[in-house]
Amino acid sequence: MRKNIVAGNWKMNNDLKATSKLVKQIRKSIKKTDLKNTRVIIAPTFVNLTMAVKRSKKSKLEVAAQNMHQAENGAFTGEISANMLKSVGVNIVVLGHSERRAYFGETDALLAEKVNAALAHKLEVIFCFGEELADRKAGKQETVVESQIKNALFHLEATAFKKIVLAYEPVWAIGTGETASPEQAQDMHAFIRKTLADKYGNDIANNVSILYGGSVKPENAQEIFSKPDVDGGLIGGAALKAEDFYEIVNAF
Ligand code: PGA
Repeated sequence: MRKNIVAGNWKMNNDLKATSKLVKQIRKSIKKTDLKNTRVIIAPTFVNLTMAVKRSKKSKLEVAAQNMHQAENGAFTGEISANMLKSVGVNIVVLGHSERRAYFGETDALLAEKVNAALAHKLEVIFCFGEELADRKAGKQETVVESQIKNALFHLEATAFKKIVLAYEPVWAIGTGETASPEQAQDMHAFIRKTLADKYGNDIANNVSILYGGSVKPENAQEIFSKPDVDGGLIGGAALKAEDFYEIVNAF
């Protein structure tokens, strides 16, 4: 059975002290909760991963990186490899976030390489994608999402999907306060699952967790998560406050 996941993408926020504090708070709050079938993940900045991993030991909290480079190692100043993440105890990486695509020029082709490198190192991938406002206005959201998934993931063997979580994040809803309606999210998630099923069969499609991201908050999480094909959320702004994040985890 697929898992529910609430993942906090901290982006470029929180220095060492703030990371330490927030990890402690989240750790404490999930300790008193029956998480049932829900995984809780946080993605702090690279420099704070080692500490976050240490502070999450012996708890249900899992730590992810926000990005990685596709090469094994070498002359790529400022970059971080899959092996480096593994070596500090990180087993999950977020790839393809819309901010990486928009500000750092990440393309589907590049993301396919990153996904390959991550899987080769047994990292689980939270793969993000989603349409822009103009696409939705033109009614092209499904075409865009389908091509993002196909171009970056459909070269993979079916078994690879055991290590892949999908995160549908409509760009127009990220950090804008505007959320896709629960129905819009459900429609798209059902479409994504069908796209997967057409290529890999129902078994794979039904076992992949599909998260929604884009202005999820304590006030709307429950309604969005109640949709049958929404298996949780990738949370930005609201993941930076322990109480809000905890309430979202509790929405399940
Ligand atoms: P937001 O960000 O929750 O602040 O909209 C979501 C994301 O970028 O993953």
